[in-house]
Amino acid sequence: MSLLEIKNVSKSFDMKGSSLNVINDFNFTAEKGDLIALTGPSGAGKSTLLHIIGGLDKPTKGNVIFNNIDIYNMKETELNVYRGKNMGFVFQFHYLLDDFTAIENIMIPMLIHNVSKRDAEKRAEELIKSVCLYERRNHYPSELSGGEQQRIAVARALSNKPEIILADEPTGNLDKSNSLAVLDILKQQAENGVCVIIVTHDEYIATECKKHIVMQKL
Ligand SMILES: Nc1ncnc2c1ncn2[C@@H]1O[C@H](COP(=O)(O)OP(=O)(O)OP(=O)(O)O)[C@@H](O)[C@H]1O
Ligand SMILES: [Mg+2]
Repeated sequence: MSLLEIKNVSKSFDMKGSSLNVINDFNFTAEKGDLIALTGPSGAGKSTLLHIIGGLDKPTKGNVIFNNIDIYNMKETELNVYRGKNMGFVFQFHYLLDDFTAIENIMIPMLIHNVSKRDAEKRAEELIKSVCLYERRNHYPSELSGGEQQRIAVARALSNKPEIILADEPTGNLDKSNSLAVLDILKQQAENGVCVIIVTHDEYIATECKKHIVMQKL
C-alpha cells in the first residue's frame, strides 16, 4: 500500500454559471522517502493539486488516500488536526506570522498540537540550527531577508515531523545559494523517509528529484 494515492482526481471551479476544468482524472502514487518534482506550465493546476493533496481543497471528483485514509471522508475538524500532525506545507510566499520571532514561528505549530513549551523550544532550536539561522532566532520576519524567511518557513513546516511535505515553489524567489540550502533540507527529509513533493519551475531542482510528475494545461 502506497503512502499517498491520488485516484481519478478532477477539479473544476464554478465561475458564475460556467465551469473551469483544471485537473482531469489525475492519478499517481507516492511512497515514503520519495522526492518528487511536480512540474508543468503556469495554470496547469500544480498549486491546486498540492492543495487537494494537503486537504485544503476538495476535489470535484476522485479520492486522496493518505495512510489508507480517504482524507475527504473525514470531518473538517478531524481533517484540520490530521493535516497539522501529518503534513508540512511550504508556500511560495511563506506566510510567517509578523508579530512572532523566527523561533516562535517554528514553535507555534507544535504548541497548537499540545507539545510542551520546553520540548517545542528544544526542537525549534534544533530546526533553526539545521537551516543555519540560530543567530537570527530572535528576529521578527520583517528583520529577516526573503531567503532567511523562506528557510524559517521550511523549518516551521518540519516542526511536527510530518510524513509528507508539500512545497509550492519553495525556492521561487531565492538566490542560488539559498535555493540549494532549501533543496538540501528537503532532500535530507526524503532521505529520512519523508515523502517530499516540490512544485518547481526550476530545472535544476527538478533534475535533483528522483521522480517527476508533469501536469499539462487543459
Ligand atoms: N479558486 C479558483 N477559482 C477559479 N479558478 C481558479 C481558482 N484557483 C485556481 N484557478 C485557476 O486554475 C488554474 C490552475 O491554477 P493553479 O494555481 O493550480 O496553477 P499552477 O499550475 O500552480 O500555476 P503557476 O505555475 O502559475 O503557479 C489557473 O488557470 C487558475 O486561474
Ligand atoms: Mg502555482
